[in-house]
Amino acid sequence: MYRTHTCGELRINDVGQEVTLSGWIQAIRNLGGMTFITLRDRYGLTQLVFDENTSDELISRVANLGREYVIKVTGKVIERSSKNAKMPTGEIEIIASELFVLNKSDIPPFTIEDETDGGDELRMKYRYLDLRRNPVRENLELRHKMGQEIRKFLDGERFMEIETPYLIKSTPEGARDFIVPSRMNPGEFYALPQSPQTFKQLLMISGFDKYFQIVKCFRDEDLRADRQPEFTQIDCEMSFVDQEDVLNTFEGLAKHLFYEIKGLTFNEKFPQILYDDAMKYYGSDKPDLRFDMKFSELTEIAQGKGFKVFDSVEYIGGINAKKCAEYSRKKLDELTAFVQKPQVGAKGLVYVKYNLDGTFKSSVDKFFSAEDLKNWADHMNAEPGDLLLVLAGNRNDTLSALNDLRLEMGERLGLRDKNKFAPCWVVDFPLLEWNEEENRYFAKHHPFTSPKEEDINLFDSDPGKMRANAYDFVINGVEIGGGSIRIFKTELQQKMFEILGIPKKEAEEKFGFLLNAFKYGAPPHGGIAFGFDRWCSVFGGSESIRDYIAFPKNNSGRDVMIDSPSDVGEKQLNELLLKVMKK
Ligand code: AMO
Repeated sequence: MYRTHTCGELRINDVGQEVTLSGWIQAIRNLGGMTFITLRDRYGLTQLVFDENTSDELISRVANLGREYVIKVTGKVIERSSKNAKMPTGEIEIIASELFVLNKSDIPPFTIEDETDGGDELRMKYRYLDLRRNPVRENLELRHKMGQEIRKFLDGERFMEIETPYLIKSTPEGARDFIVPSRMNPGEFYALPQSPQTFKQLLMISGFDKYFQIVKCFRDEDLRADRQPEFTQIDCEMSFVDQEDVLNTFEGLAKHLFYEIKGLTFNEKFPQILYDDAMKYYGSDKPDLRFDMKFSELTEIAQGKGFKVFDSVEYIGGINAKKCAEYSRKKLDELTAFVQKPQVGAKGLVYVKYNLDGTFKSSVDKFFSAEDLKNWADHMNAEPGDLLLVLAGNRNDTLSALNDLRLEMGERLGLRDKNKFAPCWVVDFPLLEWNEEENRYFAKHHPFTSPKEEDINLFDSDPGKMRANAYDFVINGVEIGGGSIRIFKTELQQKMFEILGIPKKEAEEKFGFLLNAFKYGAPPHGGIAFGFDRWCSVFGGSESIRDYIAFPKNNSGRDVMIDSPSDVGEKQLNELLLKVMKK
């Protein structure tokens, strides 16, 4: 028998028991005649002691142990003289009478403790060791628990978990496909799913009514902290529903997770923000609602006063940083440098301090009177003590820069508390998005998304103005999920492909199976997919989804532990009739 208990289990009530534990050696301390070993397993840490009563043979065996050795120990539980309140097992220790080395260990490349000395790359290379560390293991425990609760909730709502294939054909989620050559069909390729979108729609046509799957998706796109080339979706679809039905159901899922995982209750309905308002007030379709600081447009009231920078632009807007009128020159310079960073892209920053005594001090005092500035302040609901930060330029770029500035100010003012949660729905997205480079429309969500009934008449006259039955779920400024009510009739689907500039023949080749299926009594349907990794990271309070993935890829899409991607041999290439071109 390897163990009678785990390393996280024994308490003061167990004193006197003879126990056997197995685990890894986290630390060995030698304190004059006594040796202490901290033994670790998934469940916790337990202290072992070897003292003057320990046999010489055992002492000599202990002398040869090292960090991360795997051992089995038998001994008696005793009360500790110096208790450790920080350790759940901190009131006891095991006075060892027997010890077996189950396996040795090389010296680990970094310390396997909560605070480690290992850098990112090293820990990725030895991910299996990093996973022994508490904080990393706890992240995966959170993920596991969320997965269980998601299944519990959806099963309760009669969703069926159904697997869909990985070796498929291109899916139009907007990224590049990963492709897989087929040996049995030389010269032909599968694509890995960017999502199970078309399959879940087919399952609705098959009559399954409510489907879900916690499923891997693959997208060849540029990576960031919240993007991995393979990631996991909680993918869902329902029949005979409208937008409000879908939002209600999944608001239920979100509330269930908030309660079960974070102990939080949301009594009110989550706010639903129109896409147009999200852009107007937050410059983003994923607003961080943990704090207010909405944008105010000043274009009309700030133009025509002789300030050239303002007079020639399309949009002037600002945010009100409450109680920041005391900001020093240095801080304002830092903010100016921030907005001028290439990724933010503003030319400059105009500030107005609304001093506590009611006077104004601004960077544009030459052009604007105190009365003008008071007018701005009133427009922005400012009070004495507030600081107004204003940007100007073309509308879209300025809204986007203001979004960056708002988030930066939120950060500086401590308003983006990771223990606070502000969920919302963003609804009524545009159906289409104009792409300048390709000179054609793209689907803003995906081509299976239906337009709003009342906008269908714009298809021929003004397609860019059409709104979609599409929605995103956002928590704390992170897009957690997105979905839509689908097109379910062949003619409308064909019309959609047409407007997207997909020729009939190509639509037939790529999506003929779906268009065909629509002919056999497709029910009205809609759904949503959540980024499971992202949801875990928001609940766990980390910016990076990698922390919640057991074996993630780095920013170049590499798994440095298994060293992948890598060359395949000539033989395999020949079998596939493939030749690799030199770069
Ligand atoms: P969408 O493309 O919006 O919708 O994806 C749904 C959610 O998946 C997450 N996500 C990602 N997470 C990590 N790494 C990535 N590379 C990545 N890409 C997306 C996001 C996103 O909100 N088929 C539709 C859903 C539907 O219409 O039902 C779809 O895939 O959190």
